[in-house]
Amino acid sequence: MHKMRFFGGIALIAAFVAGCGMTTASPEGDHKVPAEPTKIDFVTPSAVNGLVTRTLGEGDGGGRYVHITYPEIKGADPLNDKVRQEAERQLRAFRESTVKHGPAPRPELNVDWQLPVASDAAIAVRLRTGEFYGANWGNANRTIWYDGRTKQAFPSTGLLDGEAALGGLAEKVSRRLEARGSGGVGANPELFDSMAFNRDGDLVVEFDDCQVGACSLGRVAEAVPAAEVEPLLSAAGRRAREAARAAAPPTPETTPKVTPTHSPEATSNQAGTVDCAKTKCVALTFDDGPGPHTAMLLDTLRDAGARATFFTVGVNAAARPDLLRRMSGEGHLVGSHSWAHRDLSKLSSSKIADSLIRTQDTLTATLGERPTLVRPPYGAISKDVVAVSKELGISLVNWDVDTRDWRDRKAGVVAERAVKGAHPGAIILMHDIHRTTVEAVPGVLKRLRGKGYTFVTVPELYGSAGMQAGRLYPSGASGARKQPLT
Ligand code: NI
Repeated sequence: MHKMRFFGGIALIAAFVAGCGMTTASPEGDHKVPAEPTKIDFVTPSAVNGLVTRTLGEGDGGGRYVHITYPEIKGADPLNDKVRQEAERQLRAFRESTVKHGPAPRPELNVDWQLPVASDAAIAVRLRTGEFYGANWGNANRTIWYDGRTKQAFPSTGLLDGEAALGGLAEKVSRRLEARGSGGVGANPELFDSMAFNRDGDLVVEFDDCQVGACSLGRVAEAVPAAEVEPLLSAAGRRAREAARAAAPPTPETTPKVTPTHSPEATSNQAGTVDCAKTKCVALTFDDGPGPHTAMLLDTLRDAGARATFFTVGVNAAARPDLLRRMSGEGHLVGSHSWAHRDLSKLSSSKIADSLIRTQDTLTATLGERPTLVRPPYGAISKDVVAVSKELGISLVNWDVDTRDWRDRKAGVVAERAVKGAHPGAIILMHDIHRTTVEAVPGVLKRLRGKGYTFVTVPELYGSAGMQAGRLYPSGASGARKQPLT
């Protein structure tokens, strides 16, 4: 019974993803009704020059989970400042509101992003926030705009020509909502904090869960036709709309051929050539990237002839396919860390599948090879996570040495924990989004090599026994011989 329902879910999601392409996105499922006028097209982030992704996170130390990713775009500093400030504001507010919560189930804050527009004329960053306080996810969106001419960043209401225009828009939106049986909305700027244009130039106004009507409705949005909204727009708003209209229809990511560029050292250390039953092996794993310091880490690993496993977050991976190709080309293994780093154990089967399939598709399109390893965010799994993984041909990988590098941003401390914890067959957890971690790696490599270790990818630890789909590998090679968790 359960299995049948699950297959149905997979098929539906696959159809949805295929129909919408990579750029339309509903990774954790907040577009209940895709297509039609309220649909916004998003720019393929890898097409935006000078884009890096930043991450704010918190692991299990504070009794809550936090993962916030946001983009930073070269040459748009006022926008970057506003987006970063908004991310920090949401983190502060969440910390304040969760102080009194107990440990289980852990409250969670998750923020990812999309770009409704990104051109010289205008940029929009849409931050998608999910909050979990013990029962359901609540979702909210906020879109921050940037005008290429004035070099100013502003909230969505800056698309409008002042307070009177906001009043006029609230009236138009209210009429539409009332026609659908919902209540109207007042001219409150907080309610109009996420607006963008569809491909016809209509203004799409979207509301957070519970802002308009019942919480169970999910995303509620209204599109106000271009002709009606025209008199309400500010000068920046008109330029933003032109930029949105001028954007070429999104094209799917092409799959360039991967040219391996193994260094001689790395070649002597290729998959299959190391017998970890006879050699002291250790697997360095880097989660949450690629990020601003990943290229530096790749340089370090290449210079040392060491290989590692990268568990990449889909939203970051989609933004930086160049770094993924480098990882793969230089002999590292690229795995998945879900689309946006939500605790998968708090999601339904269909949403788990959505998050994993979307990431698998992105990595496959970039690397020409389907990843088989997933590290579940926060190491959290459920029966549903295991069942979905099995269906998708995925092995789940946790760790046995935690450097706690997200908490202690000191290269010396991180290196010490990695070296002290290492043992033959160990899987060491680190995060390449932190500069201090990347700075710790040269010392880790040198000291562990001094102790006779060889650096391998995770599957090499298991040698000819291989790794099975739908199985959790809670720790390194010795732990893998234990019974699987089902
Ligand atoms: Ni993580």
